[in-house]
Amino acid sequence: MELNKSIIASLENKCILVTGSTGFLAKLFVEKILRTQPNVKTLYLLIRATDAASATRRLHDEVTSKEIFKVIKETYGDKFNSFMSEKLIPVAGDTSLENLGIGDAKMREKIFRDVDVVVNFAATTKFNERYDFALGTNTLGPKNILDFSKKCVKLEMLLHVSTAYVCGEKAGLILEDPYKMGETLNRIKTVLDIEMEKKVIEQKLEELRAKQLSKKEETKAMKELGLESGARMFGWPNVYVFTKAMGEMPIGQWRENLPIVIIRPTIVTSTIKEPFPGWVESVKTVDSYFVGFVQGKIASFLGKSKTIMDVIPGDMVVNATIAAMLAHEDQPNSRFMIIYQVGSSNRKPMYCSMIKDYAYNHFVNNPLMSKNGEPIKVVKPYHFTSTNSLQRYTDLKYNLPLKGLRLAYAILRHDDGGFCNDMERQLKFVTKLAKLNEPYLVFREGTFDDSNTEKLRISVKSNVKEENIFYFDPESINWDNYFMNIHLPGLMTYVLNN
Ligand SMILES: NC(=O)c1ccc[n+]([C@@H]2O[C@H](COP(=O)([O-])OP(=O)(O)OC[C@H]3O[C@@H](n4cnc5c(N)ncnc54)[C@H](OP(=O)(O)O)[C@@H]3O)[C@@H](O)[C@H]2O)c1
Repeated sequence: MELNKSIIASLENKCILVTGSTGFLAKLFVEKILRTQPNVKTLYLLIRATDAASATRRLHDEVTSKEIFKVIKETYGDKFNSFMSEKLIPVAGDTSLENLGIGDAKMREKIFRDVDVVVNFAATTKFNERYDFALGTNTLGPKNILDFSKKCVKLEMLLHVSTAYVCGEKAGLILEDPYKMGETLNRIKTVLDIEMEKKVIEQKLEELRAKQLSKKEETKAMKELGLESGARMFGWPNVYVFTKAMGEMPIGQWRENLPIVIIRPTIVTSTIKEPFPGWVESVKTVDSYFVGFVQGKIASFLGKSKTIMDVIPGDMVVNATIAAMLAHEDQPNSRFMIIYQVGSSNRKPMYCSMIKDYAYNHFVNNPLMSKNGEPIKVVKPYHFTSTNSLQRYTDLKYNLPLKGLRLAYAILRHDDGGFCNDMERQLKFVTKLAKLNEPYLVFREGTFDDSNTEKLRISVKSNVKEENIFYFDPESINWDNYFMNIHLPGLMTYVLNN
């Protein structure tokens, strides 16, 4: 792999199909390309929608009108809208369906003729998603994208965005290795059959519908199925990483001659530099802790002090993605498949307990305002080193007294103690958050190998003019500065609107 020409020059006249563009990373990807190479030919943006009109509406409401495009807006002024509509073509579709659900045959044919690269960001990123939804988008989606890509006559490659946590709870140095079809992480349950999983889901849905359950009950049952009979059965900690791991398998198995790049980012956080520092869109993984803490819903911290936590700013992930996409463009029909793990743990590790210090030190001086305009006070968090010790503490300090109070109210006042509900909801929230994040935020004993990514980095750095444009070197990050002066202020501004 060599990047022996300019990335910016390579982007000129490119035609790219991008999925997941109403999401965080794809938006950054689209923005970066348009800002650095306005002569890119076309970006077809596949947007989940029933028809062209609603795809166009979503493109405006959820993509181009967002603050992330403000730098381009400033550059183009009143020509912004015409520039965007010249470059961006919204396509109504759904990756969980055959032909990506693109019903408009003319549009499909046009894409088959035009595109040079397909980039798949689409995913359902909820850790506790329903099994049917997660399998549909995260596992069958990549297979549909592969089949679709094979029909694109001049395609140079398919780039699929996965996650580094497809490794489950493996420890040690986690390599940039592909999954084989049917591989599992469970020593007893060693064979995984995606077709069989589809059938299990269909059967379960039939069963649930025969019982005429409410939508809420059906969702609960489908989430349980994904976690218990799916993820945990085969050795993954949640349905998200399980279905993402399965999503890599068909690509590897059935790619034939199509060149494939798989990007596996770790935990993606706000932009460190471009288009401006601190941009983040929603609350995911590590930000659930920060938001719960600043809202006063979490007053504890769960994690071993020396556990490494792997986070990486979104703009670095996107720069690596663009570089990887172009590093291989001169190798059509070379049948390669290469994986890039994009994270920080192997080069500039940050430790789990730093999160607790950043949260307290930042929010004690920059509190969130409550609805009635009062600052929400934060306290120095208790530190627990296991979910069991957290559970014991909450049982003793809260659950038991709450049970006692309810009993006393029932005996003395014939009252169900409804005032306890709020407190119990908060306790459930903390326990759920801890359980969801425990496997890979808190007790991970692994770091991610990034040898391929490092080679790519060296290659980009050889172009002096572009190394500062397509930067993705975690060694350049000062974590204290990033979290205290960029990420947490960004979270407050762009997510909590404080
Ligand atoms: N953010 C992270 O920390 C992180 C870390 C590692 C890997 N990744 C991976 O990076 C990729 C992008 O992540 P993100 O954070 O940008 O995700 P995101 O903000 O949750 O966006 C996901 C996007 O996928 C779209 N999508 C979901 N199901 C779809 C379907 N069936 N058909 C078409 N589009 C569909 C969503 O569209 P709707 O708006 O219609 O829902 C949305 O545009 C994902 O593959 C994720 O697994 C993310």
